Amino acid sequence: MQNNPEKFGKTPHRPSLWTRADALKVHADDPTTTQPLVSADFPVLSDEVFIWDTMPLRDMDGNITSVDGWSVIFTLTADRHPNDPQYLDENGNYDITRDWNDRHGRAKMYYWFSRTGKDWELGGRVMAEGVSPTVREWAGTPVLLNERGEVDLYYTAVTPGATIVKVRGRVVTTEHGVSLVGFEKVKPLFEADGKMYQTEAQNPFWGFRDPWPFRDPNDGKLYMLFEGNVAGERGSHKVGEAEIGDVPPGHEEVGNSRFQTACVGIAVARDEDGDDWEMLPPLLTAVGVNDQTERPHFVFQDGKYYLFTISHTFTYADGVTGPDGVYGFVADSLFGPYVPLNGSGLVLGNPSSQPFQTYSHCVMPNGLVTSFIDSVPTADGGIRIGGTEAPTVEIRIKGQQTFVVAEYDYGYIPPMLDVTLK
Ligand code: FRU
Repeated sequence: MQNNPEKFGKTPHRPSLWTRADALKVHADDPTTTQPLVSADFPVLSDEVFIWDTMPLRDMDGNITSVDGWSVIFTLTADRHPNDPQYLDENGNYDITRDWNDRHGRAKMYYWFSRTGKDWELGGRVMAEGVSPTVREWAGTPVLLNERGEVDLYYTAVTPGATIVKVRGRVVTTEHGVSLVGFEKVKPLFEADGKMYQTEAQNPFWGFRDPWPFRDPNDGKLYMLFEGNVAGERGSHKVGEAEIGDVPPGHEEVGNSRFQTACVGIAVARDEDGDDWEMLPPLLTAVGVNDQTERPHFVFQDGKYYLFTISHTFTYADGVTGPDGVYGFVADSLFGPYVPLNGSGLVLGNPSSQPFQTYSHCVMPNGLVTSFIDSVPTADGGIRIGGTEAPTVEIRIKGQQTFVVAEYDYGYIPPMLDVTLK
């Protein structure tokens, strides 16, 4: 496709703010925004690998898509090392916690397939060793492009640096399973610019990752969400009246919250294929509130834009807190203004008795929320490491509110539509 710059004029907008006042409304253990307890006797997808961030195959409109009746998910994946001397403790026992905590440094993209939308079978690595330009293959989004089975996998190539990249391949089905072919040429798309989005030089703890491309249901253009931090040297950000919001007396003090500078970034494609992108100002900033708004994604419902993003307790700023989980914001148009769902932003958090039970929630357009199990407390006072799919939860989205309404099987990710390959 030819570039057509006229068609993609600049969209001036001001980022919406998730304020400290909004975050003061976040409360763990509200039953309408809390994930049911995950039992410590959960099943494990694989004894060979840990999985965490789960990326269901979907189309450019965000619909979860099966191909020829096969559901497909991509996962960040790392080998488990039960017999590796490096991961034995002083008593010679496997230190699974250390193995799990080290996983980010060796994350690779794998895929799984299923006839039932659960009971996933391991397909293998998406890209052969050496294809991806960096050590870590971090989260992104696989998009089914057409009935020929072509798939664009957008993901983050990390260490050295952090680059949003994409790689094209094809999904092939038989009556016995699914294979992915191609995925041999990785194309770098863009990196943080230091003007809108913080660079590694500005902050060694910067975040720039997790692309989520989509077609805007209203203007029909191709955009991409991603996680960023607001540009500027670490420590130079101002937490002023706008970032603080309308707080009660005694809450004006912001401590060291200038170090928390998360934002949800957006870029627009200059071409139809999504090979040429222009970064725009963030949709949402959380300066003075939280340092990570990870894996941002949309649900388009009732003519509204529901923006979801995952975040942690440990990334909150001084004086505000909330559970690990998924947070959400709603607007009537793509560029906002966005209002925190449920007043606070919290949509589905871990219960305080099991603060690390799940993470990396992905809200699908059918209201189902998938996540992975991180660690669950055990009766003997220890923890059990997951590295596997959590039970799927259903939320109902109504105007500016959300409600937890149901729970399903582990890793239940049913298709919303099926594409028959030609
Ligand atoms: C979320 C996340 C992503 C990142 C990946 C790294 O769980 O932190 O933002 O891409 O995990 O493992």
